[in-house]
Amino acid sequence: MSLDVQIETLRTDLSAAIATAETEQAVEAVRIAALGKKGSVSALLASLGTMPPEARRTAGPAINGLKNEIAAEIEKRAEELRARALEARLIAERVDVTLPVRPAPTAEGRIHPVSQVWDEITAIFSDMGFRIAEGPDIETDYLNFTALNFPEGHPAREMHDTFFMAPGPDGVKKVLRTHTSPVQIRVMQKSKQKPAAPYLTEAMAPPIRVIMPGRTYRHDSDQTHTPMFHQVEGLVIDKSSHIGQLRWVLEEFLKAFFEVESVVTRFRPSFFPFTEPSMEVDVQCDRSGSEIRIGEGADWLEILGCGMVHPNVLRNCGLDPDVYQGFAWGMGIDRLAMLKYGMPDLRAFFDADKRWLDHYGFKPLDLPTLFGGLSS
Ligand code: DAH
Repeated sequence: MSLDVQIETLRTDLSAAIATAETEQAVEAVRIAALGKKGSVSALLASLGTMPPEARRTAGPAINGLKNEIAAEIEKRAEELRARALEARLIAERVDVTLPVRPAPTAEGRIHPVSQVWDEITAIFSDMGFRIAEGPDIETDYLNFTALNFPEGHPAREMHDTFFMAPGPDGVKKVLRTHTSPVQIRVMQKSKQKPAAPYLTEAMAPPIRVIMPGRTYRHDSDQTHTPMFHQVEGLVIDKSSHIGQLRWVLEEFLKAFFEVESVVTRFRPSFFPFTEPSMEVDVQCDRSGSEIRIGEGADWLEILGCGMVHPNVLRNCGLDPDVYQGFAWGMGIDRLAMLKYGMPDLRAFFDADKRWLDHYGFKPLDLPTLFGGLSS
């Protein structure tokens, strides 16, 4: 085959191969097959060395011409394919800026209203200088009742529809705590005794200012009662604590919690075995519209129980009632949540219905603080 025919054949074959290469890798394969060390065009170039000088003078430019042409075609085709790949990628990755933004995972979850209100309450009392304490849900009968001045067989025990537990091997009678008041006893005992009682890790010697949120249990279920519910207990013990302070603390709390300028409270005489005197507190409200408004109106809403700690309770904790006195209160966290956020049925709190939580829940990154706002 003459050199001219060889060159023509190569040009035709290689041009066709380049034109039909559909990927950058395919173009690269053609380049190696033609211009690589063992490529067909490179072989022709190498054959120049064996030619006589006159033949080389015409063959040299012809073969080099072929080489340059093929190299240019390869570069052009590679460029086309790169542009085509970029175009395809731009189409694939196109963003429609008119579509709604999908929320980030941190914006999707919701904090349960009970957790929210629990955090709001602890933020408010922490700001007033209160510590937080907790006790166990399974409580001894002694701490839940006896130490709180409910004598054995006293009818006041019947006020609580108690879930009784089978006693353990030690024979100690246990209950699911019916209120958070036993944590008062743990706190006061802890203030006197070593080694540390469980759940209370630091000494709480008088003066004591502590709140005790937690789960509580009673055999009860209707629109405003569930077998498990939440309470927060408050306790202040000092040498000169008095009812005026109790009233101030509660009113400051109610204003901060309901996020209103002023509240009007009414203290009604009541009975609890562990306080003397005992009172129930109502807060003035307006129920004329579709929602309850605190801090205005002509109606009253019962909100909590409180009183001066009974001398027997102080004695049961090893505190001398001639030296120390104090006040305590207890209120329902769920009930406060229902009032503040207008949720009518307590049972829905514990149905684990995601639609309910999406509606009534709180954004996880909006933590309640006094400086940033409790509920906003
Ligand atoms: N433990 C009471 C209850 O569950 C509430 C209560 C009333 C707590 C008066 C107190 C208090 O600390 O002083 O009904």
